[in-house]
Amino acid sequence: MPFYVTTPIYYVNAEPHLGHAYSTIAADVLARHRRQRGEDVFFLTGTDEHGEPVAQAAERQGLTPQQLVDQNAPRFREMGERIGASNDFFIRTTDPEHVARVQEVVQRVHDNGHVYEGTYEGWYCPRCADFKTESELGEGNTCAIHEIRLEREREQNWFFRLSAFEDELKRLYAERPDFVAPSFRRNEALSFIEGGLQDVSLSRAKLSWGVPLPWQREQVVYVWFDALLNYYTALSYAREEEDLTDRFWPASWHVIGKDILKFHCVYWPAFLLAAGLEPPERLYVHGYLLMGEKKMSKSLGNVLDPNEVVERFGSDALRFYCFREVSFGQDGNVSAAGFETRYETELANDWGNLASRTLAMIERYRGGVVPDGEVDPVLGEGEDALAGIDGVVRELLDRAELSQALEAIWARVRRLNRYVEETKPWELAKDAAQSDRLDRVLYNLAEGVRTLALVLHPYIPETSGRLLDALSEGNRELDAFGARAGGAHVERIPPLFPKLEAR
Ligand code: MSP
Repeated sequence: MPFYVTTPIYYVNAEPHLGHAYSTIAADVLARHRRQRGEDVFFLTGTDEHGEPVAQAAERQGLTPQQLVDQNAPRFREMGERIGASNDFFIRTTDPEHVARVQEVVQRVHDNGHVYEGTYEGWYCPRCADFKTESELGEGNTCAIHEIRLEREREQNWFFRLSAFEDELKRLYAERPDFVAPSFRRNEALSFIEGGLQDVSLSRAKLSWGVPLPWQREQVVYVWFDALLNYYTALSYAREEEDLTDRFWPASWHVIGKDILKFHCVYWPAFLLAAGLEPPERLYVHGYLLMGEKKMSKSLGNVLDPNEVVERFGSDALRFYCFREVSFGQDGNVSAAGFETRYETELANDWGNLASRTLAMIERYRGGVVPDGEVDPVLGEGEDALAGIDGVVRELLDRAELSQALEAIWARVRRLNRYVEETKPWELAKDAAQSDRLDRVLYNLAEGVRTLALVLHPYIPETSGRLLDALSEGNRELDAFGARAGGAHVERIPPLFPKLEAR
């Protein structure tokens, strides 16, 4: 089963911040989970390198745009590595292969009769790279997102006949009710379409930093079409020896933030249809991470640097925090203090302690060998039953419900902690007559921790990997989920999430 998941590609004229890391981690969790299911996964991320702000920033710094993007793109690549992203390729829209493929597709849209020459007159926000309609304008002709005064643009350029795709898009949304998730975002996209679509510029005449339009090389392809096409072009050159397009297109999931909904949920499927290509299967639109009620963004200066967070808490803690603190799909506040609390209470106490205690008790009472035992019926009952958690996680992650799946896992972490308190293995160990009972409890703890570490692996791969190794579980696939007999050797390891002062 092919599974192709993407992140938005990031603008290189800003420093990577936690908002960018968020989209990448979400897509990474989905990619890792599907690999665990033995699926044929391709995971793409990268950088969006053309457009006006890049050209302007380069000029200010006395660099060519190419020099600027070459200098900045590695920061995004490194951010991915630091947060444990397992992407299969990193695309840059300045890659010559991307440029050539964009020209091919744009030419096809032209040849299919969906392009015409016209005059654009209206408001343009260079930071959004968006031509704003009157209804999208803020007060005093400002950009409602960036709060900057907009220039009125007038230029001769080429248009994409978006309006001609209104009915086809409505049909697509009707036939595929889960095309966009969560459903309130689907409704938002659909009402945009139902409000009536206007044609959009396909090229810019005033810019030179971009992909030259094949039939009029003085103009460049509008940066959003250039950027969106990355999802398609990457497959053609990510592997030297193989064109992956047939294997992975259409994409299974595009993970995006809510600010880029219109481009992805409206322009993108229409543009693909115009090129005779299949639209993606699904899009997941997440909310914003806010700091002090405002969207975290470089221009507002309220950013958490993911590198600093990783340095302090570790990459797994960052990955975990993103989906615990803020319900995936909604907006929510993050803060350094919030990190600390979650880290201490959930990672260090709930999970880290449970793992350490389990390993320590098996070593102390059973010489480091997991005893034979049977599943304790109390752990198989109720809403937080351990058995079947893999099915629950699969079902939720099929819908990209990252916070709900993590909450389902955490309910089982709490259940196992209660099990320790209820059974008190340290007391059973004092009484030889309770030896069988102790075997059973230790067996259930080892199995519980092993299976939870497996379903947690996509979220917190580094520490779960260490824990699974300590439990002699070499497998990372969900096939390994089924019950394992006793007999495995376990070893104690340093705390997975050391107390902050001890780090
Ligand atoms: N280059 C375009 C995307 C092109 S995709 C074909 C872009 N880049 S971006 O760098 O500005 O943003 C990329 C993603 O990061 C967006 O999905 C955006 O929502 C996300 N985030 C940026 N700041 C964010 C938060 N504060 N919170 C959550 N995600 C936000 O848009």
